[in-house]
Amino acid sequence: MSNFNIRTLNQNDWSTYRELRLRSLQDSPDSFGSSYEKEFCFSRDEWASRLDLDNMVESALPLIAELNGVAVGLAWGIQHNPQDKTAHIYQMWVSPNARGQGVGSLLLKNIIAWSNELNLDYVSLAVTTINKTAVELYKAYGFEADGALEDLREGSELLVQPMKLKLCAIAPNRN
Ligand SMILES: CC(C)(COP(=O)(O)OP(=O)(O)OC[C@H]1O[C@@H](n2cnc3c(N)ncnc32)[C@H](O)[C@@H]1OP(=O)(O)O)[C@@H](O)C(=O)NCCC(=O)NCCS
Repeated sequence: MSNFNIRTLNQNDWSTYRELRLRSLQDSPDSFGSSYEKEFCFSRDEWASRLDLDNMVESALPLIAELNGVAVGLAWGIQHNPQDKTAHIYQMWVSPNARGQGVGSLLLKNIIAWSNELNLDYVSLAVTTINKTAVELYKAYGFEADGALEDLREGSELLVQPMKLKLCAIAPNRN
């Protein structure tokens, strides 16, 4: 496997985060509830405040994957409030030239490990039903369909499947 590094983003990374997030929205518009057009207009302060982890109500883990210093992957884990025993995964994306080499798995493993450290019971996400690669990735880690299909976003015909991982039920063939 190539030499990928996973690290947590901080406020100083706002422009790297902006670039990566906008690339993901351009590359994979059917994978996200938000859109390039919407987030392109965000100000510098909005990007930086998303990474201001000390002043958030949520507990958040914004992860970037880098290959030789070049950003190739992004994913967030968020616990929306301390009473919520579920971590939510958002913004998962790997650059097309880095796919199929385990980066998505690595990001997922890090969020699952963080969720375990927080003593949570579940990790949840929503994946577009036609996104077979992502569905297979999540199933390989023990995620199961959880509830009815929902609209990806207003005006889209695409549907997302909520999926949930019970944290004590991680697939045994993964480490
Ligand atoms: C989904 C995505 C994040 C996966 O990233 P990745 O780095 O390519 O994933 P990995 O290399 O870790 O692959 C992990 C698993 O995904 C599944 N997978 C990957 N490529 C696949 C393919 N072409 N067909 C079927 N399953 C595939 C497999 O289960 C694979 O496990 P394996 O390595 O044992 O075969 C990436 O394809 C992506 O960014 N897609 C566009 C954005 C997106 O869909 N985000 C998810 C939003 S919910």
